[in-house]
Amino acid sequence: MAKQLKVGVVGTGGWGKNHLRVFSELGTLACLCDVDPERAAAWSQKYGCKAYTDVEEMLSSEELDAVTVCTPTVTHFEVASKVLKGGVHAFVEKPLTASSAEGRKLIELAKDAGKFLTVGFIERFNPAMVDAKAAINSSTLGEPLLLEFHRENKWEGRITDVGIIPDTSVHDIDSARWLLDEEPNVVFARAGNVLSERREDFAVITLGFEKQKSAFIMSNWVTPKRLRQLSVVCTKGVITLDFITQEIRFDNGSGTQIPRRQFMEPLMEEMKAFLESIKSGKQPLVTPKDGLNNTIIAEAALASSKSGDPIYLNL
Ligand SMILES: NC(=O)c1ccc[n+]([C@@H]2O[C@H](COP(=O)([O-])OP(=O)(O)OC[C@H]3O[C@@H](n4cnc5c(N)ncnc54)[C@H](O)[C@@H]3O)[C@@H](O)[C@H]2O)c1
Repeated sequence: MAKQLKVGVVGTGGWGKNHLRVFSELGTLACLCDVDPERAAAWSQKYGCKAYTDVEEMLSSEELDAVTVCTPTVTHFEVASKVLKGGVHAFVEKPLTASSAEGRKLIELAKDAGKFLTVGFIERFNPAMVDAKAAINSSTLGEPLLLEFHRENKWEGRITDVGIIPDTSVHDIDSARWLLDEEPNVVFARAGNVLSERREDFAVITLGFEKQKSAFIMSNWVTPKRLRQLSVVCTKGVITLDFITQEIRFDNGSGTQIPRRQFMEPLMEEMKAFLESIKSGKQPLVTPKDGLNNTIIAEAALASSKSGDPIYLNL
């Protein structure tokens, strides 16, 4: 029988608790770590696994294959550095790091350690996005020209370390790059804040690609209704999808096709793929460069929103 992989989860708050559940269901949850001792103890009791409050102690006490980092964004670099220096594959929740400078250093650490570094761009594992990517790759509706993303919901008050661009818009920055399979060469953005003095909470970002192809990314933490949608205008039709319901529609002018399929939990698919990469030794779908470039683009969007100018990139 193949050896069961052992995974540790660092950060067991709003999102990390889902990592715990998924790895427990997959039979790979070995231990967890949270600086909040009461939280760590409560999850340890629920899942019957060892809990730590210090990541280095966890790494030296356990023989782990991988660690997932679900701590606040500003701590990703510090925590993930320890994981990689400990000689363990690292899955870091999005965004890779709070700055591109940290991202570059982390990539070097992963190379030195000879370990995988991947980032939680979960929408790549959403079945509707998988279908959209397949349709674009096979040119079913011709070539993609314009992408319009909406990711809107009321701010839950949990994310306090970064604003909406690195936290939320970054999902759609990654999706645009992935669907078009190229890097944007220009970024123009406007962003503002109505809920917090310190961080932006609404933003619109335009990414410009080769041959005038463009992505419009609308994000806000103001709308009371939760909305996560994408439409892709192609030369021979339109693809529209809902990230929440996972419904996808293909319109080609003569009719609409809505494929029927089972709902699948994107996080479960993402983690199965991560474990499979470790077993096979094949680089995970989201590369360290994806993580870094998404952060560079998010930084450019913030800079553009401050200066009012487009920012030209050569990624
Ligand atoms: N992929 C997604 O769709 C998705 C969704 C939500 C959040 N996230 C990402 O997950 C990460 C965590 O977000 P959240 O909403 O769970 O935050 P949260 O504040 O609810 O939880 C963070 C947890 O990390 C713990 N922590 C902080 N510093 C630590 C350290 N050095 N070592 C160990 N534990 C530490 C905190 O005590 C807390 O329990 C963020 O990077 C966020 O961007 C991803």
